Amino acid sequence: MATYPVKRLRRLRYNPLIRDMVRETELAKNDFIYPLFVVPGEKVKKPIKSMPGVFQLSIDNLVVECKEVAELGIPAVILFGIPAHKDERGSEAYDPEGIVQRAIRAIKKEVKNLLIITDVCMCEYTSHGHCGLLDGEEILNDETVELLAKEALTHAQAGADIIAPSDMMDGRIAAIRKILDANGFNKIPILSYAAKYSSGYYGPFREAAESAPAFGDRRSHQMDIANGDEALREVESDIEEGADIVMVKPAGPYLDIIRRVKDRFGMPTCAYQVSGEYAMIKAAGINGWIDEERVMIESLIAIKRAGADMFLTYFAKDAALWIEKNKK
Ligand code: PBG
Ligand code: ZN
Repeated sequence: MATYPVKRLRRLRYNPLIRDMVRETELAKNDFIYPLFVVPGEKVKKPIKSMPGVFQLSIDNLVVECKEVAELGIPAVILFGIPAHKDERGSEAYDPEGIVQRAIRAIKKEVKNLLIITDVCMCEYTSHGHCGLLDGEEILNDETVELLAKEALTHAQAGADIIAPSDMMDGRIAAIRKILDANGFNKIPILSYAAKYSSGYYGPFREAAESAPAFGDRRSHQMDIANGDEALREVESDIEEGADIVMVKPAGPYLDIIRRVKDRFGMPTCAYQVSGEYAMIKAAGINGWIDEERVMIESLIAIKRAGADMFLTYFAKDAALWIEKNKK
């Protein structure tokens, strides 16, 4: 094996054309899934303070936004719904006329070439902001799973292309697969939030989705931030239950987990660059403390380099424009 001075690693770095040729990781529009927040009403476009550039949209504006996203060449959006009424059982989550179900139908009618992924959870729909049914302060597992399955089915019936459960209850993937198959939706894939951590990085999202828990936290179902092996057990059981794509969330602070999941299972692997990751880059960018565009791209390259095949990111549109601009 050659060593210095025969070996000179800088040889491949002097010429920009050579640098382009040997680059290992490149972003593509196909990697992106764009999260959108849909609210009741008309002509609503309400900015989320902690997420500059992100809005709550009523269905009419959501459809316009989806057209733009599709035209940019982004293949998929993921929908989060904010219901008109919240109650203890989160009824609008599994109402065929709920906000997300109506939004799906409206988009499908008007927009071609766009995949609709739906987030399946209860926390946006419950009056207490928890991800499932409560018994006192305990989040019930099996009773919640039944409602999540109903929610998933109504999404599929409305025309969703991919179902993405984000709740972290045990057994939800099997229950959702079963109800989908029993109702003729055996071709609808499940993108499972398989390793979802109980993270402080979700703060801004809870403003956007109006889903902060009224008391307590999500530590009885989301994962302990300190655990890596447990993530592999979570992912493994979701695969056994029928997940088609597995997700790690958040992304940037959990690159080690993305890499381990990809290496261990070789599954289509997704990562979620969450609201807090976005907010930090935006805030520093707006203050002029970092070069926002550069750090945006660096953060996404890191996620892909770690092994993610695709990712949810609030930067999807900006990054797609960047790809367009930098095309040779
Ligand atoms: C719902 C859900 C959350 C996020 C996605 N789905 C919030 C939470 O678990 O509290 C967070 C996404 C983000 O921060 O961008 N369970
Ligand atoms: Zn939830």
